[in-house]
Amino acid sequence: MINNIVVVGSGVMGRGIAYVAAVGGFHTTLVDIKEEQLRNAKHEIEAIFTKSVERGKISQEIRKDSSNRLNYSIEMELVIKEADLIIEAVPEKIEIKKNVFETFDKKAPPSCIFATNTSTMSPTEIGSFTSRPDKVIAMHFFNPVHKMKLVEIVRGLETSESTAEEIRNVAEKMGKETVVVNEFPGFVTSRISALVGNEAFYMLQEGVGTPEEIDKAIKLGLNYPMGPFELGDLVGLDVRLNNLKYLHEKLGEKYRPAPLLEKYVKAGRLGRKSGKGVYDYTNRD
Ligand SMILES: NC(=O)c1ccc[n+]([C@@H]2O[C@H](COP(=O)([O-])OP(=O)(O)OC[C@H]3O[C@@H](n4cnc5c(N)ncnc54)[C@H](O)[C@@H]3O)[C@@H](O)[C@H]2O)c1
Repeated sequence: MINNIVVVGSGVMGRGIAYVAAVGGFHTTLVDIKEEQLRNAKHEIEAIFTKSVERGKISQEIRKDSSNRLNYSIEMELVIKEADLIIEAVPEKIEIKKNVFETFDKKAPPSCIFATNTSTMSPTEIGSFTSRPDKVIAMHFFNPVHKMKLVEIVRGLETSESTAEEIRNVAEKMGKETVVVNEFPGFVTSRISALVGNEAFYMLQEGVGTPEEIDKAIKLGLNYPMGPFELGDLVGLDVRLNNLKYLHEKLGEKYRPAPLLEKYVKAGRLGRKSGKGVYDYTNRD
């Protein structure tokens, strides 16, 4: 039975995951190594609570109860001692993931389940950093976590059925729909998204159309909610490039990053977060 959730990493994803966990009724602790990140996360979570109440998504009472269930800490080793489930949302670098999972394994109770929010990495490999690979799984949330409906649950080679089932229940309590799939590089969503995003860059490079025209064609012709360039700028072009490099290495030629995408990243055009990506955000709110 899962009651206590610790979310490790309070960046873009971790703060959203902590929010949906607390609203879902779990005692939740959000952890980071940087106090400043935790302070920012707290501000942002409070803002999401306020908007959700204003829009009638949650009541004032649920806000109060959820807020009371949510704690913030830089003492990871201490708080994971009481965890039933740890959800990891640290940067997409294997050495950082290895380090935190080894600590989880040493300090968390033997029954504790470990979930990784990795976009592309192997839950089997991450499981191998621990002595409990049957209790390790990927729980792939989407950005922004409080709005996106899906959690893609990815079983590693050794992940047990009961772990997959517990995680599905947890995701449903968080108000999410789930799919449970088997591990293969890029899972379902990152693999398709990277391919579409990369192809759009090839089209731009070939002069097929402007970014606005390509985005409009995909949105109105294929009924995608966002165009590939709008999505790339939101995700971050550097993140997109990293994912593509990984998929290129694992799955071959069709994922070779478009040279124009590499050029944008070299120029520091990373998307919304840097003020400019495919589009310019400097004069937008
Ligand atoms: N950003 C997205 O759209 C998105 C979507 C789905 C999945 N993901 C995945 O989620 C994970 C996190 O991505 P993000 O975009 O939130 O990253 P981010 O860089 O915004 O946040 C990472 C946080 O982890 C903290 N951190 C670093 N080392 C730590 C440690 N040892 N212990 C505790 N905290 C530590 C950092 O201080 C930072 O606050 C990655 O694996 C990423 O691939 C990201």
